[in-house]
Amino acid sequence: MTTLERARGIPTSLVGQSEQTVALLHDVAITYHLADGSFYEAVAPTTLAIAEGEFVALVGPTGCGKSTLLNVVAGLVAPSSGTCLIHGDRLSGINGQAGYLFQAEALMPWKTALANVAVGLEVQGLPRDEATERARSWLGKVGLGAFLQRYPHQLSGGQRKRVGLAQVLARDPRMLLMDEPFGPLDAQTRAIMGDLLLGLWQADRKAVLFVTHDLEEAIALADRVVIMSAGPNASIIGDFPIDLARPRDAHEVRLQPAFVETHRAIWQVLKEEVLKGYAQANEAKA
Ligand SMILES: Nc1ncnc2c1ncn2[C@@H]1O[C@H](COP(=O)(O)OP(=O)(O)OP(=O)(O)O)[C@@H](O)[C@H]1O
Ligand SMILES: [Mg+2]
Repeated sequence: MTTLERARGIPTSLVGQSEQTVALLHDVAITYHLADGSFYEAVAPTTLAIAEGEFVALVGPTGCGKSTLLNVVAGLVAPSSGTCLIHGDRLSGINGQAGYLFQAEALMPWKTALANVAVGLEVQGLPRDEATERARSWLGKVGLGAFLQRYPHQLSGGQRKRVGLAQVLARDPRMLLMDEPFGPLDAQTRAIMGDLLLGLWQADRKAVLFVTHDLEEAIALADRVVIMSAGPNASIIGDFPIDLARPRDAHEVRLQPAFVETHRAIWQVLKEEVLKGYAQANEAKA
């Protein structure tokens, strides 16, 4: 497919950009149709580009549309208008180049940690022996070398998240989509998981879109923090480059003056939207 064919219907100004960009949401809007025939305009036309090797965190109040946008890049939600380009090609259907780590756990309870990781590789076409070896190696990298034969119920919440991370990274996707992957964990375990993720990411720097409601986590991990407004018709209201040296310690970086200053600047923008988000959620409940 030629660039021109790919670009049909997409402004020419975006074509060059789309060639270097891993994922590009161009003027993507999402309207959900509800069972009673009404509709909800969740996300207003939004443009967001993620470059090769870039770690982008998407932050916003609850219900603003973070998961919705991530699901558009994953190919699980089709834009109501606008376009999603993956490596310059218009996405239709599931994004096969992405590894997706959900907030909810997706481990099979009847399989061991090793089998949970290996089975995804077998589905990709790897022979069983190779799949098992690669799974063993990735479980070692996430610190679970001694837990290969444990079933999910025999692992802690943090350990199960590590298996999930190994599952996704072992498949060597070209980009990572993460939706509050460490959400249910306590703050300390989250920081440890963030550090583990950064250490593994540093090795080959895949593009990452990381959704979180935790601004500290976003700044500690990302190259850019993108802020969404509260819905309906949510949009991107801030895009902050994070100028903190790498490699970073996801825990200790929080003590640096530059971190505190960045946090203060972004929180000014986010605070009002968070309050709006909670107010709207309460109104909806009333
Ligand atoms: N399938 C759906 N049908 C109707 N409305 C939906 C659907 N999915 C999401 N919504 C609504 O769209 C809005 C955005 O939802 P989304 O899950 O993207 O929010 P979020 O920013 O990820 O929130 P949270 O931080 O709580 O996970 C919410 O108001 C939600 O109720
Ligand atoms: Mg969400």
